[in-house]
Amino acid sequence: MIKTVSIVGAGPGDPELLTLKAKKRIGEAEAVVYDRLIPKEILDIIPPAAEKFFAGKACKEHIMAQAEINDLLVALAKRGLKVVRLKGGDPLIFGRGGEEAEHLAQHGIPFEIVPGISSATGCTAYWHIPLTHRDLASGVRYITGHSKEGKLDLDWQNLADPDTTLVVYMGLANVALIAEKLMEHGLPADFPIAAIQDGTTKQSKIVISTLAKAGQDIESAKLESPTLIIIGRVVALYGLLNP
Ligand SMILES: C[S@@+](CC[C@H](N)C(=O)[O-])C[C@H]1O[C@@H](n2cnc3c(N)ncnc32)[C@H](O)[C@@H]1O
Repeated sequence: MIKTVSIVGAGPGDPELLTLKAKKRIGEAEAVVYDRLIPKEILDIIPPAAEKFFAGKACKEHIMAQAEINDLLVALAKRGLKVVRLKGGDPLIFGRGGEEAEHLAQHGIPFEIVPGISSATGCTAYWHIPLTHRDLASGVRYITGHSKEGKLDLDWQNLADPDTTLVVYMGLANVALIAEKLMEHGLPADFPIAAIQDGTTKQSKIVISTLAKAGQDIESAKLESPTLIIIGRVVALYGLLNP
């Protein structure tokens, strides 16, 4: 009998940010397909008898192609195993969980999606930066800063909105370009920006800068992946909220 596949968000790094439902599903799994950003403490919840598959998935490190992951999920489910697809953050925010769900649906495999805390909310809570604020940001936008074939084709005119906080996933390599484009489209050179590495964990680092200096400041801090970029007036609260 085919069992429901669980596409589970593991949160952004701190194992205590795992939901109770996610923990239960992982603890009951018979096969787990997991990504690179899952911390060891969460992998330790997987029952020893479960089959484990590492799917990779850093920006440049695709151990398994997406099509292979999709097929693996279907094959494991067809063997009657209780499958957990474990993904960093939230599965549906730049996690390709939607594509995996589509593939399962096309093959008639029942699935559920267990949401996780995304790095946007996890990283900003960790460093006490609100994403919205009545006086500083009336909205928030999540975008990817990952370029396809060296090109970053985004709607800069729309994104250069001082009233909206911009959260850039996978944007570390292109931070100077992103800052330049936003300034070209009207944001001031002293507009605040933060780069947060390993948010929610003890080894997390943060760089606070301005659009004009971001490229240089973030490069000299030698930040590494995973790093999330936050651009918005709310970043100016960092000093007050981290006394
Ligand atoms: C493929 S996306 C996955 C996003 C994930 N689904 C989520 O909801 O957070 C990977 C990107 O998420 C961001 N990210 C994930 N975890 C992070 C963390 N702990 N600290 C900083 N950025 C993180 C980085 O921008 C990284 O390049």
